[in-house]
Amino acid sequence: MQVYLNGRYYSREEAAIPVIDRGFLFGDGIYEVIRVVNGRLFRLEAHLKRMDRGMKGLEMPFSEKQRAELPGVMEKLVADNRLQKGEGTIYLQITRGAALPRTHAYPSAETPPTVLVMASPFVPDKEILEKGGHAITVPDIRWARCDLKTINLLPNVMAAQEEKKRSAGGVLMIRDGYITEGYKNNVFAVFDGTLWTYPDSPYILSGITRDVVFEIAEKEDIPVKLSPISAKEILKADEVMLTGTITDIQPVVSIDGRRIGMGHPGPVAKLLQRGLRQRMDTE
Ligand SMILES: Cc1ncc(COP(=O)(O)O)c(C=O)c1O
Repeated sequence: MQVYLNGRYYSREEAAIPVIDRGFLFGDGIYEVIRVVNGRLFRLEAHLKRMDRGMKGLEMPFSEKQRAELPGVMEKLVADNRLQKGEGTIYLQITRGAALPRTHAYPSAETPPTVLVMASPFVPDKEILEKGGHAITVPDIRWARCDLKTINLLPNVMAAQEEKKRSAGGVLMIRDGYITEGYKNNVFAVFDGTLWTYPDSPYILSGITRDVVFEIAEKEDIPVKLSPISAKEILKADEVMLTGTITDIQPVVSIDGRRIGMGHPGPVAKLLQRGLRQRMDTE
């Protein structure tokens, strides 16, 4: 497995960062996960635009030259790691770099960022996509800048651990009585043929897959309502689903043991799954 780190390619075992890297010490960095389908990077530019927004939000210096190099690096890793056929993912992480002394405030803007890119094979969970998942809810204990895709993921890690402990398939996070999103995906619900999802806000990450859902909904004349759904109301939805780069569109068939709709994946989820698959296979 070859990875890219700060301008060079290494085997994954060899690649290492200094202990004073601010990503390690402070979680001071951002990341992206991009889907690779038959060697093509799905919606790469949308991911890079979100990365730009994140870096702007964190005032992380990154030159145009450095940014312009990323697609070529990713394409080389896809080829070198033999991902031209089948499914894979690209992981991109950029931190504010290695700096001393260890002080919280940002170091000099000349500090070179740490840029890591990795490519891995990926196996979608076909069973949960077909049958749907039994989701649980947890309190959304994250900060108020969830719109930035930072590497500070402990609340997400804890939510995932809860899902694992309880053998669940999906987690819905609740803030102030409303479902915000999952720990690695956005949440949609269908009420009387209308798709509802949390509006763009500092409380959610606006997913690239969420945008694909909007696109398919528009093409298929499915109305979309950008509005928070309360934890109580969502139990009355006809359908609920999670969307994300490594989630695809995963139907939710129960929440905290309460059946959603008919208790199996509904027509809107299936239609959206087909639309996403078609785009991933052809773009
Ligand atoms: C918290 C959170 N929300 C939503 C998403 C979905 O975003 P995307 O569709 O761009 O993968 C992710 C993806 O990792 C996420 O971590």
